Amino acid sequence: MAANPLPAKAVMSSNNAKGFSHPIWAARADRLQSATGVLLGLFLIMHLHFESSILFGKEAFYQVAQFLEGGIFSETGHGYPILTQIFSTFMLLIVIVHAVFALRRFPTQIGQWRALRQQMKFLPHEDTKIWFWQMVTGFLLFFLVPVHLFAMMTNPEIGPHLSAERVVHQNVWMLYVLLLPAVTVHAIFGLYRVSIKWGLTTQRFALLKLAKVILAYLMVLGVASLVAYIIIGRSLSLPVVPFVPGS
Ligand code: HEM
Repeated sequence: MAANPLPAKAVMSSNNAKGFSHPIWAARADRLQSATGVLLGLFLIMHLHFESSILFGKEAFYQVAQFLEGGIFSETGHGYPILTQIFSTFMLLIVIVHAVFALRRFPTQIGQWRALRQQMKFLPHEDTKIWFWQMVTGFLLFFLVPVHLFAMMTNPEIGPHLSAERVVHQNVWMLYVLLLPAVTVHAIFGLYRVSIKWGLTTQRFALLKLAKVILAYLMVLGVASLVAYIIIGRSLSLPVVPFVPGS
């Protein structure tokens, strides 16, 4: 029989380990955190594109929103806002699972933060800096994403006028100004880290460059869309009436 390479103390502590500190559960938690992260990251890339259809005019955004709400299956062609509510609830569950599994890596004590900052100064490796920003943006998103998802669950009306009304007259632009950079940085660097971690590529520098280009592109797209909602919202008189196609 082959000798066990681990010292007796380590074997005992790994056998006694409970919860996520047990190697099998730690590996499962890692996989679940990566899988939910990839799902959320890919969703965000699609979401920002669908939402940027406002840049092609009110009619374009109206058609995209109607399509996503299942307009082709409803008699009126106006879709089912309940689909938005169901999907938003599902996304909230995914966000919760992702956050719970990510929390176990969060430096919880001031000493751990100090050690991390020290390490960044001593060894300013780009991946250490990215990990630090993942922690900071992840912490912000813990508060910002549920606010957005609750708003979509309780007020699922989406359309060129209704969305612009939400952004301007209900002041949701304040949320989006914080949410957009935080979630874009977190999602793109998260996808980069997952690709390296699970060995999808060994071209780390090329992938990091690509990640930065995609990040810049998504930020421009998101800011341009937000400006379009603000311009439309400011041009609407109150009370806001929903957009009618062809008008
Ligand atoms: C699944 C349910 C979701 C729905 C139905 C939804 C819908 C929308 C809509 C319609 C807008 C445009 C403005 C408005 O009407 O308020 C918007 C903006 C935005 N959403 Fe979502 N969203 C969802 C989930 C998410 C999630 C999970 C994230 C991030 C992880 C996210 C990030 C954003 C950001 C950053 C903006 C602002 C974009 C910009 O400034 O151009 N959304 N969302």
